[in-house]
Amino acid sequence: MVCTLLSVIAEFLRVMADKSRGNAERTFIMVKPDGVQRGIIGEVIKRFELKGFKLVGMKFLQASEDLLKEHYKDLASRPFYPGLCKYVSSGPVCAMAWEGKNAVKTGRFMLGETNPADSRPGTIRGDLCIDIGRNIIHGSDSVESADKEIGLWFKPEELVSWKSMAESWIYE
Ligand code: CDP
Ligand code: MG
Repeated sequence: MVCTLLSVIAEFLRVMADKSRGNAERTFIMVKPDGVQRGIIGEVIKRFELKGFKLVGMKFLQASEDLLKEHYKDLASRPFYPGLCKYVSSGPVCAMAWEGKNAVKTGRFMLGETNPADSRPGTIRGDLCIDIGRNIIHGSDSVESADKEIGLWFKPEELVSWKSMAESWIYE
């Protein structure tokens, strides 16, 4: 009973915290090695910039398999997990943090479905890739995972808080 009450309060506080982030919600977007090899970094940046989101962190690196194992640890029991960690650590990636109202949910819409075959034209995966195992891009699936992922890939000092002069023309 007490436990249930506490978890309801915790959930309420979490929702309120998420709401209060408003235009400052952040999502973790990563162009995977196949997207890098195919020259798609610029297209991804272009789409997020044109949408009105603000870039607050970006790095180009080849990540270790250990980092990928941690990043994808929720999928550890899935048969594709070892291959996934190998593939994403096999070459450089472009890791980014983007900020804006509903950045997580809208970011996922912009990516499309996990399987490019189910992704609508107009989405990144719908327009630019074919196979589920080469779906070129990662995007956080919740505000909670975005926090974890940004914390995993970026040191606090690598994230830049800045005021965009376009803000008052993007938000009413
Ligand atoms: O990336 P997303 O959040 O859309 O999907 P996920 O379910 O979190 O899976 C992570 C990644 O695993 C996918 O983006 C695919 O690269 C890969 N995957 C796969 O290779 N085969 C599957 N059946 C499912 C996912
Ligand atoms: Mg995912």
